[in-house]
Amino acid sequence: MATSYGGPEVLSLVHVDVARPGAGEVVVEVRAAGVNPADWRRYSLASGGDPAALPLRIGLEVAGRVVEVGPDIEDLDPGEQVIGYRVEGGYAERLVVPRGALVRKPDGLSWEQAAGLLLAGATAMHALAATGVRDGETVLVHAAAGGVGSMAVQLARARGARVIGTASPASHDYVAELGAQPVAYGPGLAERVRALAPDGIDAAIDAVGTDEAVDVSLELVPDARRFATLAAFERAQKTGIKALGGGPGADPGTEIRAAARHELIQLAAAGKVRVHVARTFPLSQATEAHRESRRGHVRGKLVLVNAERP
Ligand SMILES: NC(=O)c1ccc[n+]([C@@H]2O[C@H](COP(=O)([O-])OP(=O)(O)OC[C@H]3O[C@@H](n4cnc5c(N)ncnc54)[C@H](OP(=O)(O)O)[C@@H]3O)[C@@H](O)[C@H]2O)c1
Repeated sequence: MATSYGGPEVLSLVHVDVARPGAGEVVVEVRAAGVNPADWRRYSLASGGDPAALPLRIGLEVAGRVVEVGPDIEDLDPGEQVIGYRVEGGYAERLVVPRGALVRKPDGLSWEQAAGLLLAGATAMHALAATGVRDGETVLVHAAAGGVGSMAVQLARARGARVIGTASPASHDYVAELGAQPVAYGPGLAERVRALAPDGIDAAIDAVGTDEAVDVSLELVPDARRFATLAAFERAQKTGIKALGGGPGADPGTEIRAAARHELIQLAAAGKVRVHVARTFPLSQATEAHRESRRGHVRGKLVLVNAERP
């Protein structure tokens, strides 16, 4: 939990008794929890936050095993493997979760992959729907090596689109493995993209929020309605481009993201999308995981893990 506002050092392990599940609830033994930038943004408020909201329970997605179900739950049993998204306080050993936030975990997915699939995947699905990416089109994905970018690349490829993905040179091989043509971000980006796609870019997805990503997309995508940002919320409000997610003025896409969970699980189970786990940390080292996430160069997903239980 975050016990105050500040940097990752405000995270600490706190003992909390886990309640018995009420109607519509399930207790999950968490095996792995996905790390997302939204996790550390919650407590990293430059101006501080509402002290009454503390402590903040962190973690929006988990994978684990059902240990107990509420009195009215008939379609899940103790022992079943599940993925929870969105949950509140996923950085935990045990968690009470609404049944509606759980989907069954396919056997072929590891706990770590399962815990990193749905938030980034549902965000990418929303972005692809909002920009209308179709078979045969060319799409530019900014921050293609990150958690969301990795999903956006693979899902766009699965739709038959050609993808150009921005990344630092160190991540180019990774981005190419995902199925995109990598291009370095930084000065001259628009020219490099034009050289790769002389016939033009149909749509763009920004998963980094830099001015460069916004400016280059506005320059290259002929129809600005086919450019969506997941991070540049202020720029979106000024320019009228699509902003998606939890930022001010953004389309939260609640329904499309909830529905995307089932398709993502099918695609992942069939090996058509893959979660690349960049690094795992024990739950007790969430502070370190957040430091790494904040450095902004994760390739795939960071995941917190709980020790193996019998
Ligand atoms: N709106 C929503 O619904 C929503 C949902 C999820 C995430 N987000 C936001 O979307 C962003 C990405 O999330 P994430 O989970 O994918 O984060 P992440 O995994 O931490 O993404 C890090 C990636 O960003 C790339 N990157 C860093 N600087 C860059 C630059 N100047 N230009 C292009 N790429 C750059 C890095 O690539 P290199 O290592 O190659 O530099 C790295 O692979 C975050 O701002 C997050 O808060 C929004």
